[in-house]
Amino acid sequence: MKVIIRNNSAEGSLWAAHHIADRIREKAARTSEPFVLGLCTGSTPIETYAELIRMVKAGELSFKNVISFNMDEYAGLPESHPESYHSFMHRYLFDHIDEPAENIHILNGNAPDPAAECAAYEEAIVKAGGFDLFLGGVGEDGHIAFNEPFSSLSSRTRVVTLTRDTREVNSRFFGGDFNQVPKQALTVGVATVLGSREVVILAFGSKKARALKDAIEGPMSHYCTLSGLQSHPDGVIVCDELSVGELKVNSYRYFKAVEEAENL
Ligand code: GLP
Repeated sequence: MKVIIRNNSAEGSLWAAHHIADRIREKAARTSEPFVLGLCTGSTPIETYAELIRMVKAGELSFKNVISFNMDEYAGLPESHPESYHSFMHRYLFDHIDEPAENIHILNGNAPDPAAECAAYEEAIVKAGGFDLFLGGVGEDGHIAFNEPFSSLSSRTRVVTLTRDTREVNSRFFGGDFNQVPKQALTVGVATVLGSREVVILAFGSKKARALKDAIEGPMSHYCTLSGLQSHPDGVIVCDELSVGELKVNSYRYFKAVEEAENL
């Protein structure tokens, strides 16, 4: 696992956006196969998306041959709700880039048969060729996508019940009313994310410090599902100084030394 520590979220977001753009361009230079990209929601990726949009508008990058799959969606929330992940993704990314509509995949949180929806999602990912890169965030309790504590590290796309903590944290998007936050969600599993050829996780701010400590220094455990990244051969956490405040000094120094030595 690599940990890229930047001064602040703006610098970390730029690193992530340029890294994703480089990967898309590299693949385009060697094959006509589409680039399969996993995407996330939350406040964390917004600055990364803004830079990707800037690059597309400047003609530096194209999503024409990108196929994307989002991580998750609330169950039972209308797609048109401003806080659905469908709305979020269109507002912060899809409405501003050139990705063809048919290449965009987001789980249907209102599917009549949610289990079938989840199984079809896994099949569609395989059919697309599997993920080249999965961009994710992390919850304050270390969850990746909506894989709450006690989700199996071998989990696949399925319906999950959200923890009270997650609903409270996410209530800020629902007028501060915890009761308005859906109780369940459809989410890719930990194994779905880890099946990607590369995983890039964003984490900014002191609220993520405990999650990063557990994920980076703790044991691999279903209690902090991001810790599953420890088993991935190409996992990167892009973070800022505040979010690594709980790491041991020696861990911090090592990651900074790697950054310097490898010119990351
Ligand atoms: C939700 C999403 C996660 C996201 C997390 C953190 O729980 N399902 O994918 O990583 O929120 O959100 P934020 O970036 O707003 O801190």
